[in-house]
Amino acid sequence: MYGFINQALQEFVIRESSFETWEEILKKANVDLGETNEFSQRRIYDDQNTVDLLRVVSETLGLSQNYILEKFGEIFFEYIQDAGYDNILNNLGGNLKDFFNSVDAIHEHLMFVFPGMRVPSFHAKDTPDGSGIEILYFSERAGLEYLVVGMVKSVASKIFNVVVNVELCEPVNQTEKSAWSKFLVTPESNSGINQMRQHCKQIQRMEQKLELVTLSSRISNQTFCQACPFHIMFDTDMVIYQAGVSLTRVLPSVKVGQTRVDEVFEAIRPHIPLTFDQILQFINKVYVVKTKEGLLDSATLTTVSEDDIGTLELPTMRFRGQMLYLPECDSMLFLCSPSVLNLDGLNEVGEYTKNLMHTHLASSKSDACRSPQVR
Ligand code: HEM
Repeated sequence: MYGFINQALQEFVIRESSFETWEEILKKANVDLGETNEFSQRRIYDDQNTVDLLRVVSETLGLSQNYILEKFGEIFFEYIQDAGYDNILNNLGGNLKDFFNSVDAIHEHLMFVFPGMRVPSFHAKDTPDGSGIEILYFSERAGLEYLVVGMVKSVASKIFNVVVNVELCEPVNQTEKSAWSKFLVTPESNSGINQMRQHCKQIQRMEQKLELVTLSSRISNQTFCQACPFHIMFDTDMVIYQAGVSLTRVLPSVKVGQTRVDEVFEAIRPHIPLTFDQILQFINKVYVVKTKEGLLDSATLTTVSEDDIGTLELPTMRFRGQMLYLPECDSMLFLCSPSVLNLDGLNEVGEYTKNLMHTHLASSKSDACRSPQVR
């Protein structure tokens, strides 16, 4: 895990005790951080270091690991705020539920800043009885649930000015390598519920304004497929019945009316099986999917995605975008663009790919749905 997050654990020990105690703990846990004895923000450390340190901090300070993790989470949140992300955090959502539904998007974006980070995923919804919200948390790392408890409490109090109780429910789906956990979040006083789940008035007004933006659609299917060259539309059986022109060029095995989404793509984020119901449940997420091996038309696409490094024979391609439910035809629209490492990567790929990318790079300045995302 990046030193950026581990520094919060170091800070916790120093606040509770002293830097000398931290140095002692490092020795006991057999963690070598070099001469400074401090984590460095931009380095990735073995997750085992964090596990060992948590155990030794708990033994040395006589505090439970859950308590330490909760404080670790609170300090991590302070760290993020102080590291210049406060503006983003203040504008991530109008309430606690929207905030947690937007964290994936921010982490997704941060992968350009912290390459190789293995981020968690969050999904928040109202509780059936309306008393609060449920937050689902997915991590490739087991055992960090109480870190999230600390973060939820901090976000609630520091961003939304509401004190909340956070209860960790039974594990939803836990394996040795990953876990979905569920938290029940309720306000300490009833008046706090508004900050947790109701849209703020400004957003409601914006949504009303957006309701009527066209009289009738005049765009043909062909024009749409050119205008959004990397999209697919699929029905409730997950069969693709429309695809953008560039996507079908890269993936010639996509046969509209026949190919199922899961035959050509696997989900990287969110961590869900690609079924219609699951996508509906996680509709507000940033979607990152990867083509299955051996389907790409060009063997020269190797620099396009970070997954491809070292797998030159069977390149794959990542697409990042957004799912939109289309009630008028009970279908899903995946508006996406290829995720590329850098512009050099685009230059290196073959003539075929240059043609493919040309229009989208040249014609788009800000439209994420049309332009490839360059990392
Ligand atoms: C906006 C600024 C943010 C930055 C710069 C940031 C950065 C990071 C980094 C560098 C990691 C380590 C990942 C790795 O090394 O694999 C991480 C992990 C994590 N982040 Fe963020 N993050 C941000 C926002 C948030 C927010 C708002 C939350 C939730 C309230 C959050 C929750 C977490 C959690 C729980 C982890 C632990 C990893 C895991 O669960 O597997 N982060 N973040």
